[in-house]
Amino acid sequence: MTEEDKSHLAILLPTATVALFSRDQETVEAFQSLESDWRFARVALEVHDGDVETATAKYRSSQTPELLIVQTEDIDSGFTDKLETLGEHCAETTSAIVIGPDNDVNLYRKLVGMGVSDYLVRPIAPPALADDIAETLIEQMGASGSRLIAFMGAKGGVGTTSLVEAVAWNLSTDLKQKTFLLDAAGGWSTLSVGMNFEPSTTIVEAARAASDGDEDSLSRMIHKAHEKLYILSSGGDVMLDDPVDEDRYEALLDYLMALYPVVLVDLSAAPAQLKRLALTKAQRTMLVTSPLLPAVRATRTLLHEIKQLRGDTETSVDIILNMKGIAPKHEVPKTQIKAALEQPISATIDFDPALFVSTESESKKLHLQKGGEVAITELMGPIMDILDIQKAPAAEEKKSVKGVSGLLDKLKSKS
Ligand SMILES: Nc1ncnc2c1ncn2[C@@H]1O[C@H](COP(=O)(O)OP(=O)(O)OP(=O)(O)O)[C@@H](O)[C@H]1O
Ligand SMILES: [Mg+2]
Repeated sequence: MTEEDKSHLAILLPTATVALFSRDQETVEAFQSLESDWRFARVALEVHDGDVETATAKYRSSQTPELLIVQTEDIDSGFTDKLETLGEHCAETTSAIVIGPDNDVNLYRKLVGMGVSDYLVRPIAPPALADDIAETLIEQMGASGSRLIAFMGAKGGVGTTSLVEAVAWNLSTDLKQKTFLLDAAGGWSTLSVGMNFEPSTTIVEAARAASDGDEDSLSRMIHKAHEKLYILSSGGDVMLDDPVDEDRYEALLDYLMALYPVVLVDLSAAPAQLKRLALTKAQRTMLVTSPLLPAVRATRTLLHEIKQLRGDTETSVDIILNMKGIAPKHEVPKTQIKAALEQPISATIDFDPALFVSTESESKKLHLQKGGEVAITELMGPIMDILDIQKAPAAEEKKSVKGVSGLLDKLKSKS
């Protein structure tokens, strides 16, 4: 497999339990090292000193986890018989991986025929084990760890599209998250300008293709802006046409969320029914506002309406205060904004027309512009919290992880 083929594995894995039955110290250590892999933050890793029979004895009386890994030294028919007995005690939804001593194609085929997800040969390097477990869990449970983050302006023109574009670039390039960006504005969309693509479709057509399950057409409507950044190539709608049907738009969101771990939806200039739909489905909303009185008032009203709509007891909204300094003498002070909204401001971005207007009109990436790093660091704070990626390995750390596993491989090849 190439690195690119594995990009779908670079997501926060769904909540699951993985149990290993092994007596091999090296396998146990490789398995335990996954605790420090950010993707496994929601995966419980259980180690049991034992084999296929120990597992059978345990699951005679208790529920099986999402994934069972059994190591064996013995790969004759005695083992497959025991594995079959274990299978009788497993829940339908449990997947299994077997680790054995030799590369044996016939055994591999037999195990796969029995419903085993994979057969691995010891010793297994931690990265390979991590990828194999991730692949199995994603296949079994779907990428239900997918996060939908909605960006909405408290009023028009407060910078919602500029900010969601900046987040999309940063998430997909710096943080290496497979990200999908779409909007709901139909012909009013400005995404194609900031993200530099020619709209090849309309929201109406894309939503129809999703609700008809027409994956071929949908795949042609997706613009790949970067190895990990995908954008719905819409915006060709007639501006004065009626908006898309909300059930169909929901089918589109569902389709995308099954495939992309992070979906960003820009709700600026979208009709109210699509805003309502996306706000209800989103894990979190970035509500963009400005320090001017009309925007602050609208923010207060919207916070209340979003809470009512979702039935939230706690806020599901981050307030992004954009364009601070646009008119210093006429702005509502930050302390008063906080008091009026009864919640903290998650990020504050200064008014900087030279930076923002050139970024937009020349389709640049905000985080690569002089002066853009400050804004992007501020903006990414709440996003990283939502996605739980604050522990994602930075480029340097990644290098050192590779270095260690490379060293382990070298050591192993000497032994
Ligand atoms: N912090 C900022 N400082 C200066 N200009 C900004 C800032 N943020 C955004 N802008 C500029 O403000 C204008 C409006 O931004 P943008 O189109 O992103 O807003 P919007 O809220 O999506 O608008 P709409 O409601 O029309 O969809 C753009 O020209 C953008 O470059
Ligand atoms: Mg916009």
